[in-house]
Order: sequence, then structure tokens, then C-alpha cells
Amino acid sequence: MRTSPIAIRDARSRRRLGARSFRRPDDLGATGSYWDEPLEDLRTAHELASPGRPLAVLGGIAISLRPMSQINSFKPPEPAEALARLGMPMEDAMRTQRAVRRLHLEPVSHEVLLPLLELSLKAPTSSDSQDWAYVIVEDRAQKEKLAKLYRRANRFIKPLATRMAKGDAAALRNMKPGQWQADNFEDLPVLVIPCYRRNQKHKPVGRPQISVSSFYGSVYPAVQNFLLGCRAVGLGASLQTIPLWWIPGVRKALDLPRNMTPVCLIPVGWARGNYGTTTRRPIGEVVHLDRFGNRAFLDQA
Ligand SMILES: Cc1cc2nc3c(=O)[nH]c(=O)nc-3n(C[C@H](O)[C@H](O)[C@H](O)COP(=O)(O)O)c2cc1C
Repeated sequence: MRTSPIAIRDARSRRRLGARSFRRPDDLGATGSYWDEPLEDLRTAHELASPGRPLAVLGGIAISLRPMSQINSFKPPEPAEALARLGMPMEDAMRTQRAVRRLHLEPVSHEVLLPLLELSLKAPTSSDSQDWAYVIVEDRAQKEKLAKLYRRANRFIKPLATRMAKGDAAALRNMKPGQWQADNFEDLPVLVIPCYRRNQKHKPVGRPQISVSSFYGSVYPAVQNFLLGCRAVGLGASLQTIPLWWIPGVRKALDLPRNMTPVCLIPVGWARGNYGTTTRRPIGEVVHLDRFGNRAFLDQA
């Protein structure tokens, strides 16, 4: 029997996924997917900022906790070592690239970040316009401005998502990495904000719809390249739009000109835990042959 490439891929992906059940993306709630990780390094930003501070003074003797950073210090890889990982098999990178929200708080070297950003720009843009800009935010005061905006949205989203997940232990657990990020937002090592310039052909809102599609479509291929690069070198990253819910506020915080629109925000840091595999809808459910509705590969789902 002749097997189609789709059948091979699907069978392989099913084997890899094992018996894990599929959950629709919209079941995941506002803060997204789950991320299995060990609990070994739950230092808060505060612990990192003030290591070794006395816990108490008893009879004139200062008792201090050994900072977690000394008990379980994370040492980022050397830039050359990290970049060498870009040789990982493409299929493995694609299968395990996922939203990684819990991050080590150590800085990410520009020697790693800039080559990844440069590689991301190998992506296509509509009419080859290349009207993109990356704002990378590392300054704490700048991150604080963005954190303030984000938390304003999160104050609404969190109770809503919690209500939606009520009674569903897995869904509630899935929300934790997102909450961790919200709580530590200003301490995340670097926030990458891809922006695009509005021009006559490409605009973020309005009509014709193809101009809008071409606008965002000129950003997201580069974003995905960047996410794959992060995955390969061992950086955790996740594509986020909620932190940019109030564009005028973000524009003001970043000094963006009015014709430059921030499209998403990607917190980046060295990943904690394992990447694992992603759960996605089976290919047979998604592919329609010749016309919508003819799901000719359903038997392979
Ligand atoms: C356009 C877009 C916007 C997203 N916005 C957010 C966001 O605001 N916050 C967040 O935590 N994740 C956000 N995500 C990440 C998704 O929740 C995540 O990719 C999805 O749940 C699948 O997770 P996985 O890749 O780990 O399997 C966004 C993803 C996309 C494509």
C-alpha cells in the first residue's frame, strides 16, 4: 500500500503524542497552554534582587537564608555554545517549539539575541517592504511601564479565566505559568516587541482587508522564525498580544511614532524545565481537499 507523506507525518506525530488527549486552543483560557516543569527554581525577583538579606536578628545574631541563587544557581550557556545549538534538526525544533512562560531571570546576552533576531528577518514581507522594527526592552523602568499596563488587563482577565476554568484542575494548573509571568513581568530578562510601519499598502486596521492581512502577515513569519531560534538555543519565549492591549499606552512608553504599530510582545529568557511536545489538532481534521468540507484525510486523524 502506498502511504502518503501526510499519513507518515500524522502517524509519527500521533506516536510522539501518545495517549494525550487533544484540547482545543480556545479551551486553554486567556493565559494559554500548560508547561510541565520542575519546581526547583521558584526564586522570586525579590529574592534575586536582595540575596542573603537577614531573615531575622535573634540575640544580636543575624540569621540569613542562603540565597536560592547559591543553592541552585543557573548559569546560562556561553553564547558560542548556545548558537551552536541552532544546528538542531528542524523537525525537532518545530515539534517542540511552544509557549514557554517560566524563565530564568538571568540576562540574555546580546551575542545570542542579536543573531536570533537577524535570522528571524529571513522571513518574507508583503511587497518585500521590510518595514519592521524590533524594540528590545531590557531597562527595568521601561519594563515597569509595560508591566503596569499588562497588569491592568490581567486584573480583568484573571478572574474571568479562573471562572471559566472552575472545577477543571488541569485548566487551573495551566494558568499558573501565565500568572507567574504577570507577577514577574518587570524582572523578565528581555521583552522583544516586533513592530511594523504603516504605509499605503499595509495598515494595521481598516479596509481593504488584504492590506490588514499583509500588515500582520509581514510580521508573524519573522516572529515564528525567532521563536524557533529561541527553541533551538534553549531560550524560553512566548508570543503574546494581551500585554499590548492598550496600543496608545505602549506607543507612549516606547516612544513609537504614530505610524509604527507594536504587533506582539515576546518575553525571552533561558527556559526552565523541558519543552515537551505540543498538542495540536490532528492533520486529518484540519486539511480539506479541493473544497472546504471535504476532509479526505479524516481516517488518518
Ligand atoms: C496571536 C497570538 C496571541 C497570543 N497571545 C498570548 C497572550 O497574550 N498571552 C499568552 O500567555 N499567550 C499568548 N499566546 C500564546 C498561545 O496561548 C499559545 O501559543 C497556545 O496556547 C499554544 O501553546 P503551546 O504552543 O505551548 O502549545 C498567543 C499566541 C498567538 C498566536
